[in-house]
Amino acid sequence: MLLQAGRILSSLTVDPHGKPLTGAVRVPGDKSISHRAVLMAGLAHGTSRITGLSSGLDVAATRRALEAFGVPVQQAGSPGAWDVTGGARREAETVIDVGNSGTSIRLLSGWSASLDALTVLVGDESIAKRPMGRVVEPLSAMGAKLDARCHATLPPLVVRGGDLHGIDYTVPVPSAQVKGAVLLAGLSAEGETTVREAQPTRAHTEEMLPLWGGDVTVGPGRVTVRPSRLHACGFHVPGDPSQAAFWVVAACVTPGSDVTVEKVYLGPGRAGFVDVLRRMGAHVDIVDYDPDSAVGDLHARYGPLQATTVEGDEVPSLIDEIPVLAVAAAVASGTTTFADAAELRHKESDRVTSTVGALRSVGFQADGMPDGLVVHGSAGRPARGGTVDSAGDHRVAMSMAVAGMAALEPVTIQGWECVRTSYPTFEEDMARCRAR
Ligand code: S3P
Repeated sequence: MLLQAGRILSSLTVDPHGKPLTGAVRVPGDKSISHRAVLMAGLAHGTSRITGLSSGLDVAATRRALEAFGVPVQQAGSPGAWDVTGGARREAETVIDVGNSGTSIRLLSGWSASLDALTVLVGDESIAKRPMGRVVEPLSAMGAKLDARCHATLPPLVVRGGDLHGIDYTVPVPSAQVKGAVLLAGLSAEGETTVREAQPTRAHTEEMLPLWGGDVTVGPGRVTVRPSRLHACGFHVPGDPSQAAFWVVAACVTPGSDVTVEKVYLGPGRAGFVDVLRRMGAHVDIVDYDPDSAVGDLHARYGPLQATTVEGDEVPSLIDEIPVLAVAAAVASGTTTFADAAELRHKESDRVTSTVGALRSVGFQADGMPDGLVVHGSAGRPARGGTVDSAGDHRVAMSMAVAGMAALEPVTIQGWECVRTSYPTFEEDMARCRAR
């Protein structure tokens, strides 16, 4: 353990053991869906029982926020099951600390914009760098008063909510968080609120709102919400595809591996990484897919990989999986390009810089570009091993653990504690897959 800026940092060393990964894995509940389920339940009249929730600190931050607004959230027996009693929000008496969670701060800005109250949203040093102008602009156009540091662009974010009116808004950058914030605000606005997007992003808000009674219409490239009184419902959160991607890539790059990740959400805007891996020649199959719930198992086996190009409309559907796809690209034959992905620079870290740095630290070759990265594949030679800086970014940390599972020498990931934001049980799952 080491102390940096007053925080205790931990590291994880993944030792090479030359064995394949095998068996079945159940990943935590989807993080994006968990945030939305809790927030929708907080607006809905009655008690919603939500099961399968993400166990990470990010969703716990959304829960604490709701409690600060006077919304009771009770544990409901099994882990990941909460009873949320919504419909009666009040002004929070304290500032709301979202920790590391960008989804919390953006969705809460829209959630609180319809409340006649002052809300102050803060977070950690990574949150302090994340762009907020993208929610300030549309929510201000709806009639809320928002302000933030650096000319209303960076947290802390202050929301003076109140009477809202609908808008017709085209999202300037592909962002499901912005779409979600505007739609949540639109539930209590006068008239219709339409969000248009040039590139499709994850569809959770528009898919889930009708379950709580939200009046939503979806058309090509647009979603419209009308004022709605939400009512409680029961909801189960499926497995997180972004977490599944770690095991899928780990199986693809570790010789002899054969892994199944069970009950994963594979709906719109989330399964792009599967298409990319297949294009690279990976053995990845979707098994037992249920079209009603968009849930299926992912079966992945080791095999040689070829380089590909990832760009354009495909990017939002795999933006969070680029660090781990870069690990697959690092052992592929040829050079893989991830382009049109400038949004990577505004995630939990600047993921162009942190991913390129992490790959180089374990002996791979990669270069950053303004809007993405280029990975020069090793044609099957595994990571050499080394010490990696996670940059406090959970997805970079876990991606490098994946590289470590197939490496020649140990891989040490500094700042490993960030993994608790989304996948606190990663190490247990890794031990189980590697032990069989
Ligand atoms: C998310 C949307 C994406 C994604 C993030 C979760 C969501 O961010 O990167 O991890 O739950 O809506 P953007 O909306 O900034 O693209």
